[in-house]
Amino acid sequence: MQSWQGSSVLSTEGWTKQKLLPIFDLAAKYKHCIEEKKDISVQTGRSCLTLFYEPSTRTRLSFESAANRLGVKCSAVANAVNDSSAFKGETLEDTGRILSAYADVIVMRHPELGSSKKLASHASVPVVNAGDGAGEHPTQALLDLFTLKEAFGRIEGLRVGFCGDLKNSRTVHSLLRLLSAYDCEIIAISPRELEFPTTFIEEMKKESVSFRVEHDLRVELPKLDMLYMTRVQKERFEDPSLYEKVKKEYALKQRDLELASEKLKVFHPLPRVDEMDRDIDSDKRAHYFVQAANGVPVRMALLTAMLGIRNSVTAEMF
Ligand code: NCD
Repeated sequence: MQSWQGSSVLSTEGWTKQKLLPIFDLAAKYKHCIEEKKDISVQTGRSCLTLFYEPSTRTRLSFESAANRLGVKCSAVANAVNDSSAFKGETLEDTGRILSAYADVIVMRHPELGSSKKLASHASVPVVNAGDGAGEHPTQALLDLFTLKEAFGRIEGLRVGFCGDLKNSRTVHSLLRLLSAYDCEIIAISPRELEFPTTFIEEMKKESVSFRVEHDLRVELPKLDMLYMTRVQKERFEDPSLYEKVKKEYALKQRDLELASEKLKVFHPLPRVDEMDRDIDSDKRAHYFVQAANGVPVRMALLTAMLGIRNSVTAEMF
C-alpha cells in the first residue's frame, strides 16, 4: 500500500503483482460495502479535483462517486477546454502548479499524448492519468484486471483477445502492459491499419510474453477466455475515409458467440458504437456492465492508497 501513497498514476509500466494485490483486496472489500449499502465515509480532510478536456461518463463519474463514498471532497471541471483558463491559452504546466494548491489529488483526461506527465511535472500533488490521447488509461486497466481476476479467480493461464482499434485505444495499451506481468496468452486481433503500435509489440517481445497478431476474429474466438472489444476511436483519425473503411470491419455479432466457449467473458471499456450487437447484452457471457460498475470500488481503493485514508475498512492496513 505504501508504494502508492503520494505517487502519481500515469502509466501501468512496471506495475508488479505485489503492487496490485493490496489494491485488489481493498477493492473487493469496498465492493462488498457498496453492495451492502454500508456507509464507510469518514472526515478525511482531503480533496480531489477532476479536470477533463475530453468527454467522459464512466471514468469521471466513478472517480467522483469513489471520492464521495470515502469522504474525499470532490470538485469537477467536466469541460476544461472551454471552462478553464486553457481557453485563454494557459499551459498545462501552469495549471498543474496552480491546482496543487486547491486539491490533494488531480484526476485529468486530455487529448494529448504525454499530457498527464506534463501536468504532473509541475504539480506538487499526485496526478492520475484518466486518459492521455492514444496513450494510456491506467485506472481503466486496473479495474479491467480486477474484473478479470474476479470472473476467473486467476489471471495466469488465461487466453485474452484484444479486438478492434488497438492502435488508438489507450485502455488496451495500459492493460497489455499490465498483463505482461502475468503468464497469460495475448492475441491481438484488428485490421492491419489498427494494429498495436510497434513500440508495444517490441515491448511484449522483450518481456517474452506469449503474444501474437491475428486478423480473423472468428478464427480466434473459440480459443479465448476473455474477448476485449474496443471502439474504433474516430476522434484520433486524421483521415475520415480510413475511419469509414474500418469502423465496422471487426464488429462482434450475437451469432459469432455460437463459436465461443460457454465460459468466455466479453469485456468492453465502453462507450460502444458499431463494434458490438446490442442483443449480446442478454448473453451470460457479456461482462461489460459488471466491468463498468467495478470502476467505483477499484477507484475507491486507489484513492485510499494514494491519500493514505484510514477508515473502518483500512484500519488494519496502514
Ligand atoms: C475509454 C476511453 O476513454 O479511453 N472509455 C473509458 O474510459 N471507459 C474507451 C473509449 O473511449 O473508447
